Amino acid sequence: MAEATLKSKPIVKALHAAFCRDAGRAEILKLAATKMRATGPPYTSVYLYMIDESGETLLLEAFDGRETEHTSIPLGRGLCGKAITERADLNVPDVSAAPEYLPCNIDTRSELIVLIRRNEEILGQIDIDSDAPNGFDGMEQAAVKEVADALAVLL
Ligand code: SME
Repeated sequence: MAEATLKSKPIVKALHAAFCRDAGRAEILKLAATKMRATGPPYTSVYLYMIDESGETLLLEAFDGRETEHTSIPLGRGLCGKAITERADLNVPDVSAAPEYLPCNIDTRSELIVLIRRNEEILGQIDIDSDAPNGFDGMEQAAVKEVADALAVLL
């Protein structure tokens, strides 16, 4: 049976272990970004955007990969903001065809955004850029969701 490239189980295990040794929020988020990106292609860069106290802005709290100028994104803006306002994960196979896309570099071809939800509350999102066109299938998305669901419990 085909498997996702991202192995969510060891990542979730590492996040639980960090939580158990009293790692703080910043460390847990950074660990998630680093472990996910370590998967390699199609995972080019991984960003953890969390909704701030005002409830109106996404703040980049951790990332691994290429730097981005988008460290703060108003909820209505970009694909990241769209995922929040639509309360839905977004799998964008071709970012050049998405009118809302906020570019952060010229090499990104596809993007996957998976919400971090605690019951009805949306805490933030895992945003993954890929240099590969159509980088993420449903299985990959499901694996990322396992990590998002673990973060929702641990943060
Ligand atoms: N592409 C995102 C912006 C975030 S950067 O890719 C890290 C968007 O369209 O919202």
